[in-house]
Amino acid sequence: MSFEMTSKFDAIKEKESNLLCNTYGRYPLAIARAEDCRLYDLENTEYIDFLAGIAVCSLGHCREELADVMTEQARKLVHVSNLFYQEPQLELAEKLLSTCAADKVFFCNSGAEANEGAIKLARKYMHTIQGKNRHEIITLEKSFHGRTLSTLTATGQAGPIKEGFHPLPEGFITVPFENTNALRGAVSDKTAAIMIEMVQGEGGVRPLSSEFVQDISELCKENGILLIVDEVQTGLCRTGRFWAHQHYGITPDIFTSAKALANGLPMGAVLCRDEVARAFEPGSHATTFGGGGVVSAVAAKVIDIMLEEKLSERAFEMGKYLSAQVLKLKQKYPEKIIGPRGLGLLFGIELAFNGSEIWKSLLNKRIICNLTQGTILRLVPPLTITHEDINIFIAALDAALEESET
Ligand SMILES: Cc1ncc(COP(=O)(O)O)c(C=O)c1O
Repeated sequence: MSFEMTSKFDAIKEKESNLLCNTYGRYPLAIARAEDCRLYDLENTEYIDFLAGIAVCSLGHCREELADVMTEQARKLVHVSNLFYQEPQLELAEKLLSTCAADKVFFCNSGAEANEGAIKLARKYMHTIQGKNRHEIITLEKSFHGRTLSTLTATGQAGPIKEGFHPLPEGFITVPFENTNALRGAVSDKTAAIMIEMVQGEGGVRPLSSEFVQDISELCKENGILLIVDEVQTGLCRTGRFWAHQHYGITPDIFTSAKALANGLPMGAVLCRDEVARAFEPGSHATTFGGGGVVSAVAAKVIDIMLEEKLSERAFEMGKYLSAQVLKLKQKYPEKIIGPRGLGLLFGIELAFNGSEIWKSLLNKRIICNLTQGTILRLVPPLTITHEDINIFIAALDAALEESET
């Protein structure tokens, strides 16, 4: 039986088309439940999950310890608003700040909101602390920073993401990837910040080179520009360090987090140096839900588990293992695989052709991954993924490549 052809699935699809805005190109699958690195559809068919809700469920799906924390806090206090002091927020802040060189944190609800907050903070810092009219934000081509008006303007991609939403906010410049001269040319006395992902996730799993990052860092220092790192996808052990910028030996002025922070509950964070944080004062920036009791308690437990289980080391090792297996497949199919790329378990396999048939064939073989930029299979599994699961994936990819006529 084909995965997409059940009457229950068809009924769900039909119902959704009548009820929801048509914003998602969905996979032909309805997921009923999940456990660690496995997803189960309506017929209880099991899939191995190499996507983790797009780099979100890093500790695996439906962890008991997190469910316990969630229910315990839900019985104590769910929401009271940021008009009140709340201890779970502080416990989380202490843990989060212990993983990096930042001094202060602002909690919010998503990656886009975290990046929006980072952009606002950079502008406010220039205005209030530096007393300068510097507002421009420079970003890189193929970057992805979110879907709010500012973050989609910051996003260095064209197409449906921007079509029909003009006028877009002013003050954003996008420059080519890995091009220091272009970046230098874009810097002016109006520049507030340069905003980068250490590995572009949506943009095709492209890590920045250390040389380019050093150039960016020096350019920022020389010109008094803030460096914002978007760690929404790369952060929280995904790339083999707690934060991806730690691979590069830099200290961002501001960086953002979301996705894996509460392992599937919506949460984001803006982290920054003390001097930068001083730009915000009561009334400058706020959110109703940010840092609520349940998400904060869960996120604090997420960080405990990440540290206890040394998940950054694990992500690094598993990424290395995956890379070695993909290189073996490349030897077998040199005309079909260009190569592995990425950092840790933010992993891409670049194909020499459009990968939609391979992606579909993997789905038929009960493997869930993602295709980005047309030719890159993106793997962002739970960081608890095992060697056995990676071997199953590699065998499935081998068979898919063997069968493909391209
Ligand atoms: C690097 C990066 N920044 C920002 C976002 C936006 O996050 P959200 O969808 O939580 O708003 C994403 C989402 O994929 C992302 O990968």
